[in-house]
Amino acid sequence: MDAFRIVGGHPLRGTVRISGSKNAALPILFSSLLGGSFSLSNVPCLRDVKTTLLLLEQLGLKISVRPEPLAESKGFDHNEPIWSDLLEISEGTTSPFEAPYDLVRTMRASVLCLGPLLARRKRARVSLPGGCLIGARPIDMHLKAFERMGARITIHHGYIDAETDGLEGSEISLPYPTVTGTENIMMAAVLARGTTTITNAAEEPEIVDLANFLVARGARITGAGTSTIRIVGVERLDPVHYSVMFDRIEAGTFLVAAALLGEEVTIREVESSPLSSILDVLKAMGAEAEIHTGAITLGAIRRPRGLSLRTLPYPGFPTDMQAQILPLMAIAEGPSSVVETVFENRFTHVMEMNRMGANIEIHGSQAMVRGGSRLEGAAVMASDLRASAGLVLAGLIAEGETEVRRVYHIDRGYEAIEKKLEALGARIKRIQEDSP
Ligand code: EPU
Repeated sequence: MDAFRIVGGHPLRGTVRISGSKNAALPILFSSLLGGSFSLSNVPCLRDVKTTLLLLEQLGLKISVRPEPLAESKGFDHNEPIWSDLLEISEGTTSPFEAPYDLVRTMRASVLCLGPLLARRKRARVSLPGGCLIGARPIDMHLKAFERMGARITIHHGYIDAETDGLEGSEISLPYPTVTGTENIMMAAVLARGTTTITNAAEEPEIVDLANFLVARGARITGAGTSTIRIVGVERLDPVHYSVMFDRIEAGTFLVAAALLGEEVTIREVESSPLSSILDVLKAMGAEAEIHTGAITLGAIRRPRGLSLRTLPYPGFPTDMQAQILPLMAIAEGPSSVVETVFENRFTHVMEMNRMGANIEIHGSQAMVRGGSRLEGAAVMASDLRASAGLVLAGLIAEGETEVRRVYHIDRGYEAIEKKLEALGARIKRIQEDSP
């Protein structure tokens, strides 16, 4: 298994290109099950994207990546996309409708095939995703919405079986603004008969990106990015070329790295507005950010100040940045606290950070950070994607050597993070666990 070996304390300087967004690319890729053909650029080269492509191929789609992934052929340039930009997807000649357990269990976002399969093939058999380390993560809201739209759903032997004679537009009021739930319903509604209105919809920028992509294909969607989305069904979707939005969580992770250790770090290929809540928190902790067109420059905060925050659905501070902000809080002057309101068990990284010298106590859904700690390198274990990123950031600021184990989690959602950090001056190497 791969691990990262990090020697902490080295300053970061330079420019880093932020990759395409994982959480925008995945629903856009799954929407290919709605039929027709299209091409995409700025798709990040990630394990979750590869899993999605594998699943889509099993569901009968034809996919080509052009040219072949550069990382394997020409080596890595941190300022260029790893996949030289073009992914083409079209329908094949068969129409299977089953998403098997072996793939779904490795990636919960596989449930995003349900809406488009029902809409286009009128049938879907999808392994029920189990709980995961960060929470139980049920998909009851997705299923209730599909039932309201005219699907018959049963669950047997760990599989969701769904079928319909044709989805009907409906009024869907979500009890919570679920992100993939909103995306799944939006995709199903695009080909449904009549109008669907989603109220209390999630407002994340990735939902807006999916809507922009579908609208470019001829879908009729208004209100994406607000809490009410209206979709009028169409017969079919047109071909299009589309470029996926930047990854705001990768961007946020590099901003925190810069706040910890940056002499001057510029992240490029970004926009500041989807990063507002992250920038606001960094500014409140003492950062001075320069916003340019398509780029943001930030340097280390000399004397970071502690603060209290809650993770919230967009436009609030993202749960996907909670693990990464903790190392900054750990070294800040004064106490901080984080209330995690989105997932019930997303503090698994805290024990590992405490082993590195942080002083963080968990009380239910709240992490109380004492502040003023000096972190020391240690061998630590990553338990999920964002937790791994938090531990890498802790390793960058820690004195001495840190080994972050099980970094396969980080490869699900960060494109060559160690190479990007190394290009900025960090001492970080990918190694085999336990290698000398
Ligand atoms: N929930 C339900 N029932 C449902 C759906 C959700 O109870 O039917 C609950 C969940 O258990 C959770 C809360 O609602 O407590 C929010 O879940 P949501 O459905 O919004 O999360 P998600 O769609 O499963 C997406 C991202 C996550 C990100 C969350 C919150 C993708 C592929 N995943 O998950 O990203 O943390 O929204 O912003 O877009 C990550 O990238 O590391 C990641 C976990």
